Amino acid sequence: MKCVKIVFSPTGGTDRAAEIITAQWGIEAVTVDLCDRNLDFSQRHIHSDDLALIAIPSYGGRVPALAAERLSLIRGNGAACVLLCVYGNRAYEDTLVEMQDIAEKDGFKIIAAVSAVAEHSIVRKFAAGRPDDQDRQILRDFAGRILDKFQSGRQGVPQIPGKRPYKKAGSVGLVPKGGAACLRCGKCADVCPAGAISRDRPKTADKSKCISCMRCVTVCPHSARKANSIMVFAASKALEKVCATRKECELFI
Ligand SMILES: Cc1cc2nc3c(=O)[nH]c(=O)nc-3n(C[C@H](O)[C@H](O)[C@H](O)COP(=O)(O)O)c2cc1C
Ligand code: SF4
Ligand code: SF4
Repeated sequence: MKCVKIVFSPTGGTDRAAEIITAQWGIEAVTVDLCDRNLDFSQRHIHSDDLALIAIPSYGGRVPALAAERLSLIRGNGAACVLLCVYGNRAYEDTLVEMQDIAEKDGFKIIAAVSAVAEHSIVRKFAAGRPDDQDRQILRDFAGRILDKFQSGRQGVPQIPGKRPYKKAGSVGLVPKGGAACLRCGKCADVCPAGAISRDRPKTADKSKCISCMRCVTVCPHSARKANSIMVFAASKALEKVCATRKECELFI
C-alpha cells in the first residue's frame, strides 16, 4: 500500500497544502505531477489498496481544463481517494464536485474532500503566506480523521458542495511576457504546463495555449516575466471585497 499524490500546482500553493496532509499520513508517497506535459498519465499505476490524494487549484470556480484533461487519463482501479481543492480566498464554487465527477469516472472511491486556502497566484496580496500555521494545524487534524476513516475501511461518499451543471468556465486572459531583463535562459519554456512558451522566443507566449497559471512568472530566475500590471490591478480591485474576509479550510467526510 502506498500514498499517491496526484497534483496540479503551477505555483506551488496547492502542493504545499497537499504535503501537509500526506506528511501527516506518514505513508510512503509517490507523486504524479499533472503539470508535467511529458508524462503519459494513462500509464500511472494505482493499486486498489492505495490511498490517493488528488490536489487541484480552483480557477474561476472550476477545475483548470488542462488538469481535468490529464486527470481523466488516470485509472483509479477502485483505490480510496481524497479530493483537495485549493483556492485563493475568493471561492471554489464547483471545483470539488467537478473533481468528484472526474475521479469517480476514473474509478476512484472518494472517502473525503478538503478545501484549503493558499496565496492567490495572480494577486499575491490575497491569502499571502497561506497555508499558514493555523491552516497547518487544521489540515493535520483533517488528515488524521481521514486516515482513521481509511484504516477502518469505512467507505461512505461525503456530501460535497457545488452545483451541477458547473458554472461556466472563463479565461482571465493574462498572458505573461518576458521584459528587458529576460536572458532567454528558457526556464519558463521548460516548465510551462501548457507548452505555451517556445525556447527560441521565450519572451512571448502562445495565447491560445496559455492558461494564465503564472508558473513562468514564479520560476523566472531574473524576475523578468510579468503579467500586464494594469490587468492585475483591475483584478485586484475586483477581488478586494470578496477576498477581504479570511476563509478557513473545510473537511467533508
Ligand atoms: C487563472 C486563475 C484563476 C483563479 N481563480 C480563482 C478563483 O476562482 N477563486 C479563488 O479563490 N482563487 C482563484 N485563483 C487562485 C488560485 O486558486 C490559488 O492561488 C491557488 O493556490 C493556486 O495554486 P498553485 O499555487 O498550486 O498554482 C485563481 C488563480 C489563477 C491562476
Ligand atoms: S525564465 Fe525569465 S529570463 Fe529565462 S527565458 Fe523565461 S522570462 Fe527570460
Ligand atoms: S505561459 Fe501561460 S500557461 Fe505557460 S507558465 Fe506562463 S502563465 Fe502558465
